[in-house]
Amino acid sequence: MEDAPDTTVAGASVREPLHDAFGRPLRDLRISLTDRCNLRCTYCMPREVFGPDYAFLPESRMLSFPDILRIARVFVQSGVQKVHLTGGEPLLRRGVETLVRDLVELAGVREVAMTTNGVALSASRAQRLRDHGLRRITISLDALDDSIVRVMNGVGCPVSRVLEAISVAAAAGLAPVKINMVVRRGVNDGEIEPMAEYFRGTGHILRFIEYMDVGHTNKWRRDEVVPAVEILDRIGRRWPLEEVPPRHRGEVATRFRYVDGGGEIGVIASVTRPFCSACGRARLSSEGMLYTCLFADHGVDLTPALNSDRPQEELRLLLSGVWSGRVDRYSELRADAAPVADRVEMSRIGG
Ligand code: GTP
Ligand code: 5AD
Ligand code: SF4
Ligand code: SF4
Repeated sequence: MEDAPDTTVAGASVREPLHDAFGRPLRDLRISLTDRCNLRCTYCMPREVFGPDYAFLPESRMLSFPDILRIARVFVQSGVQKVHLTGGEPLLRRGVETLVRDLVELAGVREVAMTTNGVALSASRAQRLRDHGLRRITISLDALDDSIVRVMNGVGCPVSRVLEAISVAAAAGLAPVKINMVVRRGVNDGEIEPMAEYFRGTGHILRFIEYMDVGHTNKWRRDEVVPAVEILDRIGRRWPLEEVPPRHRGEVATRFRYVDGGGEIGVIASVTRPFCSACGRARLSSEGMLYTCLFADHGVDLTPALNSDRPQEELRLLLSGVWSGRVDRYSELRADAAPVADRVEMSRIGG
């Protein structure tokens, strides 16, 4: 069943990417390192649900770093070029720096990035991550107003903590830092212009994310979504914008630049302008389940393959079977689809 490898990168074979049922190549792997988080953002892990009694994964069920690496290697041999570390909160995993180093060294990987809330990002940790090969980091920040930030992150974490993380990340060379702002009408939409003003001219890339109906605990309502066009219109009236062409097909954020040279912003319009048609993202949960969509209600357990006699070959066959049958396009169907009751939580599979 071995098909011939078709490219050689740094002495290792990399096959043509797998294609799904709609012809979408497998390109990105997002690895959730833990389902735990030190914040309780209201739109992601509401405190009422993720309280002291919530059953997080026991540490014994989490994939070890060597197992993550074995899985990642197969994904990379199957077409993945970009690996993104997420959570929950990825920095809660001790020693993540060594995993970064090993992932960077996988032949065929073009980039390893991370999305974090920044709370556990000290200057020395940022530097270590950079030294181990992390190139870029995305940090979540929903407002500049301290009281809004404290309410939105559910645990009263001050805005100063996150601003500090952004600055140590940039100082360590994890640049440009991307800032993710989830916009929720009536909660933080008044912060759109202040956030734009604050990050203009800093070299950081602020991205406005439409509030999504991911998971099933955040009580999402359509009227709380602020459409990307509205965000762009509001910002563009103060500081004219022009669209920047996408860097690659299937890019999540639509990019814009300030005409006056104030830098770049992005909008992630997965509700009003879905981008499923070129989505090549696979997600691995911290216990080893493969999900082929952020809005999936089921995944495929990869761990039995890890215990087989020929784990790499088993994994490859499993992945190829799953990816070739993939028909996910949730965001494009959102308006027509019946709601899925058991969608997996974003804290389990990362953003
Ligand atoms: P980089 O540009 O390399 O940082 O990657 P990215 O653009 O994928 O950025 P990031 O990983 O920070 O993704 C930004 C946000 O977009 C995520 O945190 C999610 O909220 C959302 N997002 C990412 N991928 C998907 C996706 O496949 N579907 C949907 N609906 N939303 C996504
Ligand atoms: N809608 C939009 N974005 C979300 N994120 C988490 N939950 C949601 C949601 N319901 C974002 C976080 C973080 C990234 C991982 O995903 O703010 O930036
Ligand atoms: Fe934690 Fe990120 Fe979810 Fe906030 S959005 S609760 S920081 S995983
Ligand atoms: Fe990809 Fe699913 Fe998001 Fe569509 S909804 S872009 S298929 S992850």
